[in-house]
Amino acid sequence: MKVVTVTLNPAIDLTVRADHLQLGLVNAGHDLQMHAAGKGVNVASILADAGLQVTATGLLGDENPEAFERLFARKGIQDQFVRIPGGTRLGLKIVDETRNQTTDINLPGIQVSEKDLLKIQHRILDLAEEHDLFVLAGSLPPGIPEDFYFHLTLELKKLGKKVVLDTSNSPLMEGIKALPDGVKPNLHELSVLTGKDLHNAQDALEAVQHWRGFETLVVSMGEQGALFLSAGQAVQAIPPRVNVKSTVGAGDAMVAGLVTALSRGLDLESTARLATSFSAGSIQQVGANLPDPATLQQLQANVELLTLNPQVEGHL
Ligand SMILES: Nc1ncnc2c1ncn2[C@@H]1O[C@H](COP(=O)(O)OP(=O)(O)OP(=O)(O)O)[C@@H](O)[C@H]1O
Ligand SMILES: [Mg+2]
Repeated sequence: MKVVTVTLNPAIDLTVRADHLQLGLVNAGHDLQMHAAGKGVNVASILADAGLQVTATGLLGDENPEAFERLFARKGIQDQFVRIPGGTRLGLKIVDETRNQTTDINLPGIQVSEKDLLKIQHRILDLAEEHDLFVLAGSLPPGIPEDFYFHLTLELKKLGKKVVLDTSNSPLMEGIKALPDGVKPNLHELSVLTGKDLHNAQDALEAVQHWRGFETLVVSMGEQGALFLSAGQAVQAIPPRVNVKSTVGAGDAMVAGLVTALSRGLDLESTARLATSFSAGSIQQVGANLPDPATLQQLQANVELLTLNPQVEGHL
């Protein structure tokens, strides 16, 4: 299965690590790392590690594409990004290793012109000729309408393509109306979407169990793990204990795991194990990478699965 990841609002992440971060004071940082990022780029990077053929598209500022080009070359990812005038935004991540906390500061993306909007729409549909599954991930930059994922999902599904959506706020609210095959909100995104205060797997299950028309729904809940739903079946996957370096991109790794599982036609339990092992493996390092296959297998074996009973009968 050939996969395309779509990232309309990529970022160059600057990650600084410091112990006992104190806001408003002078802190000593350990080191600074720079990564090409953005949700779809992270997903592509992990899919490449998993051995899938992956093409990355989206919009990239023509002033600073080097970090992305290096990543794509290193991982064998086909670069189909549309270059647009300007510089790709920076995202700041401050990792406090003592408290295991990451603080994010995201800057808005480049204003997209009408002409570039048309270009990216054409590029994605051209890629549909030779690819099977599309991952639509992350926020939309200014100039892209909030129903962009909705219309794109409808068109791709009409062409017989599979679509996995991972976004938030109105692009998520609109996008899910087109019934993508896979969706992975986190608990917070699902709370915003449903207007309910959701705290755990039971809350999440009650919120989504009546949803229909999706192949797999995943609600991720940080260290509480994730809820996986498909065809009237629900499992909660509790991650193994790992040494956390950076939780940035934990969700992107889970999306990559979900896509890998879809490409292999795995059942729900194996999907939950695989996707959770991808997240657990990726948070042990800074950046979006998988550990070696042996470590990954070990992690998979140590995922705990709890079967939950949806109260509402029938298929998703
Ligand atoms: N601190 C943690 N310890 C163990 N596993 C974690 C931790 N944080 C995240 N995970 C794993 O990663 C998965 C996805 O994490 P999370 O729910 O935070 O995604 P997210 O909010 O979409 O993240 P992002 O969008 O920043 O990539 C979780 O379901 C869990 O399996
Ligand atoms: Mg996420």
